[in-house]
Amino acid sequence: MRRQQGGEISGEGAGKSTQARRLRTRLEELGHKVTLTREPGGSPGAEAIRALLVTGDTNRWTPLGEALLHFAARQEHLAHTIRPALSRGEWVICDRFVDSTVAYQGAAQGFDQSAITRLAELVVGDTMPSLTLILDLPVEVGLARASARATAQSTEDRYERMGTSFHETLRRTFLEIARSEPDRCVVIDGTQNEAEVARQIWHSVTSRLPV
Ligand code: TMP
Repeated sequence: MRRQQGGEISGEGAGKSTQARRLRTRLEELGHKVTLTREPGGSPGAEAIRALLVTGDTNRWTPLGEALLHFAARQEHLAHTIRPALSRGEWVICDRFVDSTVAYQGAAQGFDQSAITRLAELVVGDTMPSLTLILDLPVEVGLARASARATAQSTEDRYERMGTSFHETLRRTFLEIARSEPDRCVVIDGTQNEAEVARQIWHSVTSRLPV
């Protein structure tokens, strides 16, 4: 990888998309070229797969089918968006990445973690983020924010409908990932106000990456 890639992940309603946009602006102000993207999605094929994953019945896929859809979307996203941006020398900020598969499909939906590891080796390889920011907040706060944000037009709530204990497992898993990979991951308290979260993100980026 020629440039740093920041992956932003967390449970629902943590304000990560807003923070990702703020981070892009700050990097651009320093003259960097930035690709801001998201998963599932981030390329035309992956956005089409996203629609299959984030809408509809909570039990519409088998665990293997669901994990493969996420990895199929990720493969298209890496091939058409992330790797080309990195080879142009850009920064890439990605709103969610492979840790979300470990948390959602592995820990919370019970899909075999060793199969996720093998799929990640195949699809992601060494295109892993240099820095992953985890915006942590209590499940009830995140779900309340996510439902307040939901509009009548938005049907992208399939994972939000999976229940509180599902989301408690997600939170615990993201924190475990952060504990097990301290060189890559930083946990930020997502209950703080937007400006304070942005300040802590910028501190993490500038202290860990050559900006
Ligand atoms: P978003 O709401 O952050 O855009 O993400 C869409 C949903 O997709 C979110 O509820 C988390 C879920 N998701 C997974 O279940 N597995 C994954 O690998 C990714 C990237 C997202």
